[in-house]
Formats: sequence, structure tokens, C-alpha cells
Amino acid sequence: MHQHHLPPVANTPPLIEPGKMEAFVDALPIPPVAKPVAKAAHGAHYQIPIHEFSAKIHRDLPPTRFWGYGNSMPGPTIEARTGVPVTVTWLNQLPAKHFLPIDHNLMGAEAGKPEARTVVHVHGAKVPPASDGYPEDWYAPGQSRTYTYPNHQDATMLWYHDHAMGINRLNICAGMAGLYIIRDEAEEALNLPKGEFEIPLVLMDRQITKEGQIYYPHSQVAGAPWVAEYFGNATLVNGKLLPFLDVQPRRYRFRILNASNARFYFLTLPGGPALHQVATDQGLMAAPVEVTMLNLAPGERADVVIDFSSAAGAKFLLMNQSFTLMQFRVGSEKVSDDSALPKTLRAVTPMPASSAVRTRQLTLEEFDSVLGEPIVHTLDGKRWHEPLSEKPRLNSTEIWEFLNLTGDTHPIHLHLVRFQILDRRVINVDEYMFNDKKVVYVSDPTPPEASETGWKDTVRVTPGASTRIIVNFSGYTGLYVWHCHILEHEDNEMMRPYEVLPA
Ligand code: C2O
Ligand code: CU
Ligand code: CU
Repeated sequence: MHQHHLPPVANTPPLIEPGKMEAFVDALPIPPVAKPVAKAAHGAHYQIPIHEFSAKIHRDLPPTRFWGYGNSMPGPTIEARTGVPVTVTWLNQLPAKHFLPIDHNLMGAEAGKPEARTVVHVHGAKVPPASDGYPEDWYAPGQSRTYTYPNHQDATMLWYHDHAMGINRLNICAGMAGLYIIRDEAEEALNLPKGEFEIPLVLMDRQITKEGQIYYPHSQVAGAPWVAEYFGNATLVNGKLLPFLDVQPRRYRFRILNASNARFYFLTLPGGPALHQVATDQGLMAAPVEVTMLNLAPGERADVVIDFSSAAGAKFLLMNQSFTLMQFRVGSEKVSDDSALPKTLRAVTPMPASSAVRTRQLTLEEFDSVLGEPIVHTLDGKRWHEPLSEKPRLNSTEIWEFLNLTGDTHPIHLHLVRFQILDRRVINVDEYMFNDKKVVYVSDPTPPEASETGWKDTVRVTPGASTRIIVNFSGYTGLYVWHCHILEHEDNEMMRPYEVLPA
């Protein structure tokens, strides 16, 4: 999918070989649920430190240094309810010096700024701009911010992560990610598997050294360490390498997040029971969809229900292409299961293209060095600091048509909103680039994949094609961002501000 690979860097330390490590010796950890420091009429208040700690990713490796939330990686899960606000004080208690390589040539990452700056964004949350974690709203160690999350949105699994301008690829790589789950009565009434039978799976690939430490490579250009994509040799599931999970022969709901910097996952359960997808990024789909392979780009989420009832005593591997991520061990003792997988889940009314007041055509572009290595990616041909160009009106509906002129898929994410995917259509890239931005479609439009038919906040924009989404800009006015969720791209100009104007 990504053809560009920088040549290996000479001074890469020796990395572990996951294939040679003992597999399935660690139980899959479940991130702890965050405990509020106060429960008031206006909702719960949390205080979450952002700091350095260490944790074991595998029995046979020394503890790994993380920069993260609370004392676990992923951080503590925030449990919220629709319509009940949550406030969080996010305390920056990081050490002064970053342990991953900052590139001071990147926008917002200039030398002289505090290295351990951070700002928290809840991905997929509908929040006022002052609590959204605008990339320039970072703050230094010793400081904190209190953000309010109104939770006026349907049940879904969101995630919180760092969003500091120019270094969020490093901060998230260091461990700054956690889950934020919103629940509502309509979802609970469906009786999907819950409690110990509802299991989050957070996928993150990392380069892990023989000492068990996170490694982030440098480019070969002295003084400009940025690399175009970060791929790990080890994939952590909830912070563990090759864990196992003991399950009962019954239904489970797995809530899966791709929290990787750049890796796309193509998940299968060879020989195992079917995967019934029930939710996308922004919550329940209209009806379950059976998927044989689950494709997740960075930032995307999906919930799947797996019924192990006819597989008592069996073992299955969760695979990403040919790589093993974890093992499921199904118990042999029969259990009763009163959970359900209903035939219909939640009404998702398709938004007709005719409801849009305008269509914006926005390009995804890549600029390469003479050696063919990407130097920078842009959105709409513009860099971050160029004047605001996307200013939708509050409550208006627009179509954003992404024209991907590059050779790679880019997962594009918009803050504040949820949207639907209309279609994809191959375009003639040369006509666009060399014939005055003429859009020539060379295929019929294809509808979104079955597993994308619901509310989304991140969309895979495929190469050499138009991808159209339809968005209603409801919630709040003010400044937000949209960006590629390949973090190396986001940190290097593939992010733009947008502003919701009063209606
Ligand atoms: Cu997952 Cu702008 O974020
Ligand atoms: Cu977001
Ligand atoms: Cu990208």
C-alpha cells in the first residue's frame, strides 16, 4: 500500500524478532476503567496524569518505557453516557527531554519549544473548540488543562490521544492513547455481549529493541529525522506482544481500534467463527455485516461480535495478513449465553447527496525528493499556515470530495463531525495535474464497502480516485482541524484548520 520506504538507517539498534519469542505467555490485559475524582450533578470529573512510567509488553522482555496516561498503555478507559458531560483535568507531568527524535524543521516543532509539550484530543467526540485539543493549544510540563466533554452523541467507542503540533507521531508512539466509550439506552437494549464479554482490542505496532524499548527511526538526512511512515516489527494488543485471551464458548463483542501511526490492518480469524461487524467509528450500524477480513486504517474503529459457542476447546489466532497478533483459547465447559446479536441495530438514515448545499473538491498531494522519497504531503495543495479556506456554516450539510493524487491510501479524519461515505470513483490524475485541474472520472462510482456503511469519522481515501463523504456540521462553531491519520503525514503538513461559522 505504501511504496515508499526510506533505506534502513545505519545506526538502528538490534530489534527483537517476535517470531522467535515465546508466544501466548501473557494474558491479554484490559485497560483499567478511569475512576472519577468527583461525581457531581453535572457529571463525573477525572484527573489524568500524563507522565513517564514503565510496563511489561512481554514476559521475556525488560519493562518498556512509556509516556502515557495514568499508569497503563493504553491509558485508563473513560466510561461516559450520552448526554451526561464529563470533565477531565489532563496534567502534563512529563520529563523535560523527549526520548524520541523531534524534527525541528516541521511546522510547530521549532527548536526552543518545550520538547515534552502535549494536548489531548478525544477522537470522534463532538466538543466545543476550547476542549477539542487544537494542535497549537499544547502546554508544557507542570501545566494542566481541564476540558469538558458534553457527550451529546450516540453510543460509540472513541479514543483519546496526543495532538501536539509537529510531534504527535512521537507522543502517540511513546504511548499517549486511551479509550473513551459512550453508552446509551438504545444500545444497551440490544443486549449485545457486555461486561467481561465486551473486550477492547487496541492495535499498535512498534519497533522494539532487544532491551524491550520503543525505537523510532531517523531519516538519513542529518538534522531532519522525519520519516514518511513508521512501521513496527511488533504489534501490541492492549500493550502486550502476542497475548492470549481465554474465552468461554459463547458470544463476545470486540471493540477494535487501530491506534498505529501508519499501519493498516487486514484482520482475520482463520478457521474460526464468523466476524459479525456491528459498529463503525461512530457507533452501531443499521444491521450486522459479516466480514471475512476486517480492514482498519489508522484511527478507524470497528466492533465485531464473535460467537465461540460451537468451538468449545478450540484455539484460534487473530491474524494481520500473515502475522499473528494474539490467540483465543475457547474453554471446553458449556456456558449459558443470554446475550443477543439482533438482526437490526440502529436506524442509520442515508444522507442524500441532494441535501448538501455545496461540494468542496479537496486534493491529497505528495511532493517527493529527487530520490523519489516523499518530503511532504498536503491537503488542498495548502500548508497548515495558509489562510483558512474551509468554512462550513453550522448545521449545513456539505459534500467533501477528496481527490487523491498520490499513490497511497490516506485515512482522512475530520474533528467535530460524523459523516457518511457516498462513493469512490477512479479519476485520471494526469488530466487533473496537467490539464488545469480537470476532474475526469474513469470508472463508475462504487458505494462504500459493507463494513463502512454507517457513521464514520475517518475515511480511507484511496489512491488515484475521488472519495466523497457527506457531512452535517452540527454541534459548535469555531476552529477545528481535518487531517490524514497517518501520523507522520499529519505532523508534516497533511493537516488543515477548518472553521464552522454561525448559521
Ligand atoms: Cu485521532 Cu485529529 O485525531
Ligand atoms: Cu479527532
Ligand atoms: Cu497521509
